[in-house]
Order: sequence, then C-alpha cells, then structure tokens
Amino acid sequence: MALLEVSDLKRSFGSGDNRLDVLKGVDMSIESGELVALMGPSGSGKSTLLNIIGGLLPADSGVIELDGMTYGRKGPAQVVDIRREKIGWIFQDFHLIAHLSALDNVALALEIAGVTSAEAEKAATSALERVGLSDRIHHIPDQLSGGQQQRVAIARAIAGSRPVLLADEPTGNLDIQSGKDVLELFRELCHDEINPISILLVTHDPELASKADRMLLLNDGKTAASNIRDAWGLDGGEEE
Ligand SMILES: Nc1ncnc2c1ncn2[C@@H]1O[C@H](COP(=O)(O)OP(=O)(O)O)[C@@H](O)[C@H]1O
Ligand SMILES: [Mg+2]
Repeated sequence: MALLEVSDLKRSFGSGDNRLDVLKGVDMSIESGELVALMGPSGSGKSTLLNIIGGLLPADSGVIELDGMTYGRKGPAQVVDIRREKIGWIFQDFHLIAHLSALDNVALALEIAGVTSAEAEKAATSALERVGLSDRIHHIPDQLSGGQQQRVAIARAIAGSRPVLLADEPTGNLDIQSGKDVLELFRELCHDEINPISILLVTHDPELASKADRMLLLNDGKTAASNIRDAWGLDGGEEE
C-alpha cells in the first residue's frame, strides 16, 4: 500500500447555475520517498486537491488514506491530527515571520505543535542544517535571499518529521537558479536513505517538473500520468 492513496475524490464549488465541478474523481497515490510533480492549467484544481489532501478542505466524496489514517470528507476540525503529524506545507510566498530569526521561525512552528523549547531548538537546528543553512540560523528573513528564505520554510516543514510535504508553486517567486536548487533539495529529502519523505509539488515549470520522479497532469477534473519530457520536447537523458 502506498503512503498516500487518493481514491475517486470529487469536489464542486457553488450550486445551481453557478456550480463548478473542479475535481471529478481524482485517483492518485504516492510512495514513501517519492517526489511527484503535479501540473495542470490555471484553475484546474491543483490547489483544491492539495487543500483536501492537507486537511484544510473537505471533499464532497472520495477517500484519502495516509499513513494509516483515513479521511477525505471530514471537515478541518476532524483532521487536526493529520495536519499536525502527517503533512508539512510549503508555499510560494514563504510565510515566514519577519522579525524572527531562521532558527526561531522553525522552532516556533514546533513549539506551537507542543514540543518543548529545548527540543524545538535542537530539531530546528538540525532541520536548518539539512537544508544547508547552518551558517544563517540567526539571520532574519530580510537578511536572506529568496532562495534562502524558501529553504527556511522547507526546514520548518520538515522539522516536525512529517512524512508528506505539499508544495504549492514553491518556486513561483524564485529566480531560475534558486528554483533549481529547491528541486535539488527536494530530491535529496525524498531520496534520503535513512529518513525519506514524500513531496507533492505543484509547478508550472516543465523543466523543474521533469526533475521529479513522476509527473501527474490534472486536467478536466482528473489526474493522468504524464510524460512531460516528451510533451515539452525536453531532453530526457539529463545528467544527475
Ligand atoms: N472556495 C472556493 N469557492 C469557489 N470557487 C473556488 C474556491 N476555491 C477554488 N475555486 C475555483 O475552483 C477552480 C480551481 O481552483 P484552484 O484549485 O485554485 O486551481 P489551480 O490551483 O489549479 O489554479 C477555480 O475555478 C477556482 O476559482
Ligand atoms: Mg493554485
């Protein structure tokens, strides 16, 4: 059984003439240690799908199984444990607290989740180390580049040892090189032999998507496997 399994997920917004069927029966799964890119036209429902998987929005029907927990139609109040223990988030605009250091940004998230200050600081330090920011832990966001700020956000997302990261256009505000660096870091985190995680990554950039282990295309309310290397004429035989 896969780490994350989504079956026949449906979600509409509005009613009557204004009803919009966004997800029309999404089936997908992600293995532990897999980096999966999700692509699809603007408005196709990528964020809606992530929000449902992340326990922020209930589906109308369908089932999600994640690491032994089952949900999908439950409201946000009934899936607190999933949000707290199973899912980390990374957003386009980082969502860091401006007047806190990198270390405190990461540690605060852990403290809110109930970890003691001493443990939080230890876990935050090691997460920042894992994303390559050991020499920047006392810097505040303004003193960091966009790519470094996003790495702080990634450290925050992995510090709680949650098995799945949802990344909604995490490179949208980054320059090309920083975007590539984020993808390289994602690959390292997923393919870590001791502590692998799984990442579902929304991106509009086919070049970045081609670095994932697998690509899914969300179109007309359903997901399909996609070979974006072929579809976009990208060279498939790139060096690692
Ligand atoms: N809370 C909501 N209420 C009404 N419509 C929504 C809501 N959330 C999303 N939508 C609509 O659902 C469609 C899919 O949105 P979204 O999941 O954000 O797409 P994507 O992330 O692929 O661009 C869009 O047409 C959007 O306007
Ligand atoms: Mg979106």
